[in-house]
Amino acid sequence: MADAAPGPQRPKLRVAVLISGGGSNMAALLGAAAAADFPAEIALVLSNRADAGGLAKAAAAGVATAVVDHRAFPDRDSFDAAIDAELARHGIEFVCLAGFMRLLTEGFTDRWRDRMINVHPSLLPLFKGLHTHQRALDAGVRFHGCTVHFVRFGMDEGPIIVQAAVPVLAGDDADSLAARVLAMEHKIYPLALRLVGEGRAVVDGERVRIEGEGAAPGGMLWPAG
Ligand code: GAR
Repeated sequence: MADAAPGPQRPKLRVAVLISGGGSNMAALLGAAAAADFPAEIALVLSNRADAGGLAKAAAAGVATAVVDHRAFPDRDSFDAAIDAELARHGIEFVCLAGFMRLLTEGFTDRWRDRMINVHPSLLPLFKGLHTHQRALDAGVRFHGCTVHFVRFGMDEGPIIVQAAVPVLAGDDADSLAARVLAMEHKIYPLALRLVGEGRAVVDGERVRIEGEGAAPGGMLWPAG
């Protein structure tokens, strides 16, 4: 009898990606999830805005989409309950926030504790909130970057899984810096989801331990001389 084809160690994690806009991070996750050995499948893309550009990209890729318009609900609890109902309807086990620009209630973040991650365009805990690139420029930092972290109730708070740093260049404005950071977001988000899906990113207290961490680069310095 022929050997069975090699398969994944565990069933793929059923993931929903929550977006509010263009969805370039969602597209990066979809691209990564196309690999046979990726431990997660994107089973749903949900947006609070019907006009979010990412919805069309997801539909074109054959992924189920849903719109839960926050303006249709009287308060945050009922909005979050409607999101939860969609997630349940699609058998979702894990949530990726990817440019989802609504604050979630404590009930929701507690229900999805250690089962929900977010990408943020700064090296957290620096520059939580909005306008991170301009704030990095104003602060005069030499390195800026992005973070993927487990979600806690506090805005842009929670155990950090992966970060990427980029240099801040002399001629940068917020747009050029944002583009450099976004390119790295597209690398670290799929990496973080892979680490979680493979069971290698373990929440330990309020820090993340990475099992079988790879070789570390040397330090970076900027400006170089
Ligand atoms: C990304 O830069 C993401 O880090 C940011 O919104 C952008 C969404 O872009 N998220 C936040 O600021 C949340 N705090 P995308 O729709 O092209 O992925």
